[in-house]
Amino acid sequence: MVGRKVGIVGAGFVGATAAYSLAIKGTCHEVVLYDINTDVAIGKALDIGQSTSYSPSGTIVTAAKDASDLSGCDIVVITAGVPRRSEMTRADLLMINAKIMKDVVGNIMKYSPDAVILCVSNPLDIMNYVIHKMTGWDRNRIVGMAGALDGARMAYQINQKVGYGSGQTRAMLIGDHGQHMIPLPEISAVGGVPLDQLISKEDMEGIIDRTKNGGAEIVKHLGTSAYYAPGRAISVMVEAILDDSRIVMPSSVILDGEYGYKDISVGVPVVLGARGVHQIIELELDDALKEKFKISVDSIREGIDILTQNGFFE
Ligand code: 2OP
Repeated sequence: MVGRKVGIVGAGFVGATAAYSLAIKGTCHEVVLYDINTDVAIGKALDIGQSTSYSPSGTIVTAAKDASDLSGCDIVVITAGVPRRSEMTRADLLMINAKIMKDVVGNIMKYSPDAVILCVSNPLDIMNYVIHKMTGWDRNRIVGMAGALDGARMAYQINQKVGYGSGQTRAMLIGDHGQHMIPLPEISAVGGVPLDQLISKEDMEGIIDRTKNGGAEIVKHLGTSAYYAPGRAISVMVEAILDDSRIVMPSSVILDGEYGYKDISVGVPVVLGARGVHQIIELELDDALKEKFKISVDSIREGIDILTQNGFFE
């Protein structure tokens, strides 16, 4: 475990829950929390660190006093960003969060130039693309966390419906982390049993709907975004990268010809390994799915175009 250091930028609910999940499991030697509000990072690092007194993990949780404390990270998870407020347009939100990415990425390039970046900030696929453009790094080292969370939400809905199979259900999705995400029940299964043998078409429609709106459903009740499932999804991906375990996980990655697209970040199944994306898996899509995937890609492209029109990439 020595030398395995994970930086988390943004010590809000998602960042802190990811840190907690990593610390409790002992996935890495050190987790360093960085936040523009240093006191929040210090307070949460203390709290999480103290929680490990009752777990045998040995993970050290620290707070970064400044960006230089992010040096030597194997992985940096970016959760920073602001949520959309009612007075903001979509363009306002995009510009604000893209500028935050620019600052964060500058620090990561300076202090952890060999890290894998795991992007969690929203709008996810667009922010992952921004990070790719800002770093100019090999695309394999830039991964967006979305499918791990959306897949967990879909698996949860499936298990609720059938009443069994928790931990045995693997749900696959492709597309954006938003309204045009494409759950793929046809290649998802409970303990290897195809879903069409377990769940009616009508029930499956309901599951797809609740999966797509899984984030919004929680916001409606909580008044803020989800963080337990996102935190856990982050820690699963971090573990796979640190262990080079080569698990298949839908993730947002930069395509370079795969699925017929280039210069875009979108969710597809990938193999996670030591350098981030070990391999992109190209599913064969029928015409209907190709059309859905195009709509999803176009919706991400629209966001990137807004940034371009506002001079962000100049
Ligand atoms: C979610 O889906 C907001 O990305 C976050 O809950």
